[in-house]
Amino acid sequence: MIKNKPIYILGIESSCDDTSAAVICNGKILSNVIATQEIHAKYGGVVPELASRAHQQNIVPVIQQAIQQANIDKKDLNAIAFTRGPGLMGSLLVGSSFAKSLSLALNIPLIAVNHMQGHVLAHFIDDEKQQKPSFPFLCLTISGGHTQIVKISSYFKMEILGETLDDAVGEAFDKSAKILGLPYPGGPLIDKHAKMGNPNAFKFTKPKVNGLNFSFSGLKTAILYFIQKKTKENPNFIKENIDDICASIQYTIVEILFDKLKKSVNETKIKHVAIAGGVSANSEIRTVLKSYEEKLGWKTYIPKFEYTTDNAGMIAIVGFLKYLEDNFSNQKTTATARLKVNEN
Ligand code: KG4
Ligand code: ZN
Repeated sequence: MIKNKPIYILGIESSCDDTSAAVICNGKILSNVIATQEIHAKYGGVVPELASRAHQQNIVPVIQQAIQQANIDKKDLNAIAFTRGPGLMGSLLVGSSFAKSLSLALNIPLIAVNHMQGHVLAHFIDDEKQQKPSFPFLCLTISGGHTQIVKISSYFKMEILGETLDDAVGEAFDKSAKILGLPYPGGPLIDKHAKMGNPNAFKFTKPKVNGLNFSFSGLKTAILYFIQKKTKENPNFIKENIDDICASIQYTIVEILFDKLKKSVNETKIKHVAIAGGVSANSEIRTVLKSYEEKLGWKTYIPKFEYTTDNAGMIAIVGFLKYLEDNFSNQKTTATARLKVNEN
């Protein structure tokens, strides 16, 4: 069916603070436009009310741009895929309402996409330079809202082996950055400073959590107390030690993540391991995972930077995979703020 016929899917992502639209043709991305909302930086985190307002402003121009860059007409589209959840309700409603209206107007099918499946399945976007994972594989999905180890047996058969009991790892990065006076989102800035610092300069206790689950809220508190104590002794402590502090925080977070990832490989005997989500853009996490190919005999899958943080390309690929299975939604589909990775 697909061989001779191009299938064009428009993907729409609006679960948090990025408004994004992408066009995919038979698994290849033709456009992937992202409007990042700068407004949240001065508040030190995402303000939900402002996020939905910004989505409303951005959604039409972003979609128009995605269609234009793909060099197609909207009449060429075969289906509309949109993020149904998880995410912020007000933000999800903007994307889902728009997707529903567009599918009605163009009289083409609607495909609801789970954002977490999007992060994982971004690995199946057609790209000459990227190898696609073979099933089964494990995926460490790390973002601003989630921290999960997922076993993927087929495109839509996913099982959570472990997840965070409190804060997500992205939150741990962002909140630590905030304590250090760095703007939101602080993850990339910690990564940048860490490159120039000594990871063993300061020690932070790692949490003790059973099984394959994670916890990051204790680390955040430990960092806060540490910084309060040190700045009392020396008001310039942060400024004088920013690189070492960031390197030490990052080192601790990376250790926590890989302790559990190694444990999950030992328990499942699955040595095909991927990373996904915004935090998988972290340079140290990418380097450490890659090093396990030689060290531990793993086959690893590291996503391209543009598919790590929230983007509609990952929603469009899920849309395409669902299109192939005739897995469509209808106008009654609702945005759902809480959606597990194994729910559709
Ligand atoms: O996947 P994503 O764009 O949004 C969610 O679905 O949450 O992830 C955003 C998160 C933020 O916490 C951001 O600080 C983090 O990804 N992040 C990073 C890096 N780039 C983005 N964290 C650490 N190092 C990075 N290089
Ligand atoms: Zn995300």
